[in-house]
Amino acid sequence: MTAHLDALTLIEQQRTIRKYERREPDDAVIRRCIALAQRSPSTSNHQPYSVVWIRERALREAVLREMVCQPYVADAPTLLMVCVDWGRQDLLARLLGMANQINKPSKLVVGVADASIFSQSLVLALQASGLGVSYIASPYTGLKRVAELLNVPIGEAMPLHLIAVGHADEAPAPKPRYPIEAVLHVDRRTNPEPSVVRDYFEAGSRQIEDQGYLAVTGDPISTWREHYGVKFGAVARDRTWSPFARDLQSFFAEASLHDPC
Ligand SMILES: Cc1cc2nc3c(=O)[nH]c(=O)nc-3n(C[C@H](O)[C@H](O)[C@H](O)COP(=O)(O)O)c2cc1C
Repeated sequence: MTAHLDALTLIEQQRTIRKYERREPDDAVIRRCIALAQRSPSTSNHQPYSVVWIRERALREAVLREMVCQPYVADAPTLLMVCVDWGRQDLLARLLGMANQINKPSKLVVGVADASIFSQSLVLALQASGLGVSYIASPYTGLKRVAELLNVPIGEAMPLHLIAVGHADEAPAPKPRYPIEAVLHVDRRTNPEPSVVRDYFEAGSRQIEDQGYLAVTGDPISTWREHYGVKFGAVARDRTWSPFARDLQSFFAEASLHDPC
């Protein structure tokens, strides 16, 4: 039987796991974690999310190719695609003789928020069940093609988070976080002093470079500065955000804040 950590320890000990044992997680555990994640709160209890458990080998390879994933993802025994999904609620409205008049921008924003809350509940449930988990760059790359492969109708639904799951075959050290003073504001938000950000970056660089963490990124880099060069730079712009922004137009198509769709 799995020994369950208390919730605060579980949150404190969360790490992204990028190396997995070959054995597959128990199907019943995955199902149970998804059922538990359904207990997550959602706006007006719309529950605008769904999960595609990607099991066929050829399909899995095609999705990962479209998403331009790091090599470790192919070794993850289980892949779950969490989607924003309004399909059920649109159907419910029709069954009730109504039209779902929530406009598309709201469906997108509310859907991303609610599906993300669902995702994190799922991740915590998986971790509490003794499994290692990694979110994989939300499918910014190849969004439309990934949606087609998984039969997700963009505009009504959207692939959001790919979650890789397996038994952890590594025990990574904690990654840097900003000090709470840079995150928590009372009454009015402010930017931190530049020195706070600089200190965070310098201490984080030492930590990250000593841990050898950068090797897992798959990029030919040796410093945290270079890592951010990739994350902020032209590669990110051209490979992820620009195609993503274009694909997102499908979600907003025919939408205006005043015209229900
Ligand atoms: C939405 C999302 C997408 C992510 N995508 C990737 C990814 O594509 N590849 C990866 O190695 N890690 C990915 N991560 C994991 C982050 O890199 C990781 O959470 C962060 O570096 C902090 O490390 P920690 O989770 O171990 O504390 C993702 C995390 C989130 C929340």
